[in-house]
Amino acid sequence: MQELDQLQQAALKAIEGAIDIPALEQYRVDYLGKKGALTERLKMLGQLPVADRPAAGAEINFVKGVLQTAILNRRGRLERAALEQQQKAQAIDVTLPGRNVEAGSLHPVTKVLARIEQFFASIGYEVVEGPEIEDDYHNFEALNLPRHHPARAMHDTFYLSDSLLLRTHTSPVQVRVMEARKPPYRIICPGRVFRIDTPDPSHLPMFHQVEGLLIDERSSFADLKGTIVEFLRVFFENNDLQVRFRPSYFPFTEPSAEVDVQCVNCLGEGQCRVCGSTGWLEVMGSGMVHPRVLEMSGIDSEKYTGFAFGMGPDRLAMLRYGVPDLRYFIDNDLRFLEKFS
Ligand code: PHE
Repeated sequence: MQELDQLQQAALKAIEGAIDIPALEQYRVDYLGKKGALTERLKMLGQLPVADRPAAGAEINFVKGVLQTAILNRRGRLERAALEQQQKAQAIDVTLPGRNVEAGSLHPVTKVLARIEQFFASIGYEVVEGPEIEDDYHNFEALNLPRHHPARAMHDTFYLSDSLLLRTHTSPVQVRVMEARKPPYRIICPGRVFRIDTPDPSHLPMFHQVEGLLIDERSSFADLKGTIVEFLRVFFENNDLQVRFRPSYFPFTEPSAEVDVQCVNCLGEGQCRVCGSTGWLEVMGSGMVHPRVLEMSGIDSEKYTGFAFGMGPDRLAMLRYGVPDLRYFIDNDLRFLEKFS
C-alpha cells in the first residue's frame, strides 16, 4: 500500500514540525480524529474483499500506533520547551544590585528633646507627661492667673469651649503632679503646646516646651541658677558659656527671671543676625514657685519651696543646628531632614 506509506511520511513530518501544542492537537484531529485521514481509511475497509481485510486493517492500525507514539513524544518535547521558556522568563537575576532601603532618622527637635531629657535624668529628674487638651483651671487658674488677669493676654489661647483649651504651656502638668503627690520631687515636663500665632521665621501655632519643677524643704534661687547654668553649658557643649539672669515677671513665680546665654553664633561679639547684635539670646523663663501656687495645689508653703523653669526646644534646636527659620521643622522636606541623620 504505497499510499499509506506516503500518508505516514506526511503525518510524521507534520507532527515533528508542530510549533506548539494547539498545532499538534490540530494534526492529531486531522489524522486520528473521527473524520481524520486514517480513520476514513479504516471505515473504507468494508469495501475490500473479505480476504484482504485483516492484512489491510493491521497495516492501518500499525500506522495509527506509529502516529500516536510520535504525537506523544512531540507533545512531551513541546511541554518541556514551554516550561523552560517560562522558567527563563521568571528567572531572578541574582547579579542585579539590590534596591536601597532608606533608613529614617530622628527629627532635630526630637533629638534636642532627648538631649534635654538625658541631662535632667542624669541629675535625678523624672520625665512626666500630661494632656494636650487642658482645662482652664490647670492651664491658668492654678498658676495664679485668674480669669481676668492681664497676664493671660500673653497667651493667645485656642479655646475649645468655655473651660477647655489647648494647653499654652506645659506648666499644667506640674500642677497635676503637685496635686497628686507629696514633695519632694524633681520633674521635667516635655510636650507640645499651642498658641494662636501666624507662622513666621520665629513663631508657630504649635511648638514644644520642656518645663522643670523642683520642690523640696530646702531649695533656693542659687539651686535654680546652678542647675540652669550647668544645663546650658552641657547643652551647648561650652564650659565657659556666659549665662545671665534678667529680672522678669511670671504670675506663677516670685522672683522671676529670664535666662539669656551669650550668643552661640557670634559669642557675644555683636554685629550678628542671630542675636540682633546684642550678644545675648533669651532661652528660658524661670523663678521660685509662687507660694500661692503651692498652696492652691495643697502644698504647705511654709515647709516647702521650689523653683521652676521653662524652655523651647524648637528654639534650642535652631540655635544648636544654626537653622534660620522655625518653619523648616514642620515642612517635612527630606532635603532638610536628611542633614540630621
Ligand atoms: N510657663 C512659662 C511660659 O510658657 C515658662 C516658665 C516656666 C516661666 C516656669 C517660669 C517658670 O511662658
